[in-house]
Amino acid sequence: FILNVITILRLFLTKLKTLWYSHNASDKTSPLTNWQGERRRVSQNLTLRCEQNTMFENVSGFHSLSPMIQDFLYYRHCRSFPIILDLPDKCGGDDEPEDVFLLLVIKSSPKNYERREALRKTWAAERSYKGKVIRRIFITGTEGSGFEEEKLNKLVRWEHQHYNDILQWDFKDSFFNLTLKQILFLEWMDRRCPQARFLLNGDDDVFAHTDNMVEYLQSLKDNNGNKHLFTGHLLKNALPVRNPENKYFVPLQVYEEEVFPPYCGGGGYLLSGYTALAIYKISVSVEIIPIDDVYMGMCLAVMKLKPDSHMGVKTLYWHIPSRQVDKYDPCYLKDLLLLHKFMPSDLYFLWQEVRNPNLPCIVTHYSLLF
Ligand SMILES: *[C@@H]1O[C@H](CO)[C@@H](O)[C@H](O)[C@H]1NC(C)=O
Ligand SMILES: *[C@@H]1O[C@H](CO)[C@@H](O)[C@H](O)[C@H]1NC(C)=O
Ligand SMILES: *[C@@H]1O[C@H](CO)[C@@H](O)[C@H](O)[C@H]1NC(C)=O
Ligand SMILES: *[C@@H]1O[C@H](CO)[C@@H](O)[C@H](O)[C@H]1NC(C)=O
Repeated sequence: FILNVITILRLFLTKLKTLWYSHNASDKTSPLTNWQGERRRVSQNLTLRCEQNTMFENVSGFHSLSPMIQDFLYYRHCRSFPIILDLPDKCGGDDEPEDVFLLLVIKSSPKNYERREALRKTWAAERSYKGKVIRRIFITGTEGSGFEEEKLNKLVRWEHQHYNDILQWDFKDSFFNLTLKQILFLEWMDRRCPQARFLLNGDDDVFAHTDNMVEYLQSLKDNNGNKHLFTGHLLKNALPVRNPENKYFVPLQVYEEEVFPPYCGGGGYLLSGYTALAIYKISVSVEIIPIDDVYMGMCLAVMKLKPDSHMGVKTLYWHIPSRQVDKYDPCYLKDLLLLHKFMPSDLYFLWQEVRNPNLPCIVTHYSLLF
């Protein structure tokens, strides 16, 4: 309750501030607002040439921001990076487009080799389930420098040759570049796999029950991917973290609004091909913020599309239904869609267990799925 009151107060203050500033657009007391218009003009000019945008040095408070955030602001407008590893035939190619039902799009850093290996053997295995085609893609940038970078680039190149499941672009694979990675993937999909009906967008350390996902998506009434769908662990009225010590710190210079639009936790969410392509098209006009799941929510909000909540997706906490249930209990997981986070060995164990028809579940969990 107290949190609600605080949220409302903060919203109210923001409204007041906005009214005050809009009273006179060229008001000297509003350096941030004044500067936004100028920045947009320059950003547009810089979008094609990815050069450091030094405009930001004149923004109040810029020099007290961390080097990582300064770096983000300098290159925020850059959206086009060369592709290093492509998968032109992942969805059948131009000649024989394949009817991909569920495309698994997994964010992974080059060094996470063990996680990718575990996923290939478990829930992200490429296969058909109930007649529906499942395909897998890991999306990465580059990591490290010098010899380390060379080594990791070679590693992912070997994996690419062996498994045909890696997309890599030439940008620094960092926490603050996750939104960039997301946009680059959507651009790729628009070109190479626009027919994919549904996508699971997620991290490389989650347990995704892809059998259940196919069943859930199949059960949707009159949506075979050609209508809006965006569902997962829904967050509403989330506030940007304004504490510089926090990993998720978002300074005003990056995001001015008091509240984030509704969004689904980035550990994993399901969306239709229709919605993925719509987000890609609108994203060119939505300025990048470093938190990729919030960014997706921002794009949806611009289009007046709503993200939805699915009980079976648990990306923030454990959400154990009762004390009797262990967090690694396959009987708990077998009715879910997605849960994070797991070690590769746990993923392997759980994937075998949940699909075991003779799994002795004492408590019959009521299905959360349908
Ligand atoms: C804003 O205020 C300045 C100085 O007070 C004034 O010269 C200018 O005309 C005002 N602009 C608008 C749009 O009201
Ligand atoms: C855009 O960039 C060009 C080339 O650097 C420059 O001549 C031009 O003035 C810039 N335009 C704007 C609006 O900043
Ligand atoms: C920053 O402001 C100074 C003084 O107003 C100006 O001379 C300089 O060109 C500005 N720098 C950029 C990159 O806009
Ligand atoms: C994002 O990637 C670009 C291209 O490699 C790099 O210049 C930039 O520093 C990265 N940004 C962050 C915040 O890591």
